[in-house]
Amino acid sequence: MKEYKTTEYLRRILQENGVQLLETGLETGLIAVIGTGKGPVVALRADIDALPITEQTNLAYASETVGVMHACGHDFHTTCMLGAALQLKKREAALPGTVKVIFQPAEEINAGAAKLMETRLLDDVQLFLAGHTYPEYTSGTLGIRPGPVMASADRFAIQIKGKGCHAAHPEVGIDPIPAMAAIVSATQTIVSRQVNPFDCAVVSITRVEAGNTWNVTPETAFIEGTVRAMTTAVRDEIHQRLEELATCTAKAHGCEATIEYECGPEPVINDIGVCERAAGIAREMGLTVETNPPSMIAEDFSRYLKLAPGALFRIGTGGAFDNHHPAFTADPSALWPASRFFAVLAEEELSRLKKI
Ligand code: NI
Repeated sequence: MKEYKTTEYLRRILQENGVQLLETGLETGLIAVIGTGKGPVVALRADIDALPITEQTNLAYASETVGVMHACGHDFHTTCMLGAALQLKKREAALPGTVKVIFQPAEEINAGAAKLMETRLLDDVQLFLAGHTYPEYTSGTLGIRPGPVMASADRFAIQIKGKGCHAAHPEVGIDPIPAMAAIVSATQTIVSRQVNPFDCAVVSITRVEAGNTWNVTPETAFIEGTVRAMTTAVRDEIHQRLEELATCTAKAHGCEATIEYECGPEPVINDIGVCERAAGIAREMGLTVETNPPSMIAEDFSRYLKLAPGALFRIGTGGAFDNHHPAFTADPSALWPASRFFAVLAEEELSRLKKI
């Protein structure tokens, strides 16, 4: 939520090119509007935020700010959709509807999409489109996967309450540590023994805490972790099992467990129709189309998909390093084709929606 300079930079370029901006009331991020101002409405979404990483690419255009880097390629997304906005602006008189170009802050902390949706300025959007850099594919390749592409991401925390005592006399207390260990083990059976093998899911315990010395049995223990799933049904099933396992396992050890479960972004489910049409357009433009594998990482793009269908595509950007690595790079030759693709797709989708 600190993309002040990026927002100003985008505002300047868009205004210089006569692109209308909506008044969002937000400190960072923008919504540009191109077209008739009436329906149908298609949205292109770029995330504009960076990561707290110091860049080590040695590129001429590397970040000049220590500890801030576009290590997920969101600068690529921003440039791509800025390019699409300018291309669409040139075609404005011919557009059969409106394109809203979203420059969204704070994707990495799953906060930006919700902020923009609260403005209610996206309520009229009928289709949301986005792209993400993808080092696994080289420039010129587009990953299009219909259906679930990115997972939900929830956080859970379990507090286990026992009864502290002298470690020499466990019989007068209730040790929460065996309960904690049993809960950690039990949760491993959720994915392996409960979830349908054809469904993808992850339960990761990432933090455990109990006690602070060698001769005191602690009063409490703590577990924290994350649940990832590709459908909301599986996510809800895991949530319920986690509650049951934690409370019942703790009880079996004489303890009491309380679970806090925070639902994060839902899975990104790509609309099948738009994926088919997008693949056709991409091939016509000479791009190679692949079906990218799904990812257990989350994307707050899914929040927009509660308003209307849409799709998130993978833009092949090559490079030897993965997203979020300090040496991550995105091949600039992928930029123009991707930008052109989104401009053409947005216009074609407007034409299609206009006929409905
Ligand atoms: Ni990203």
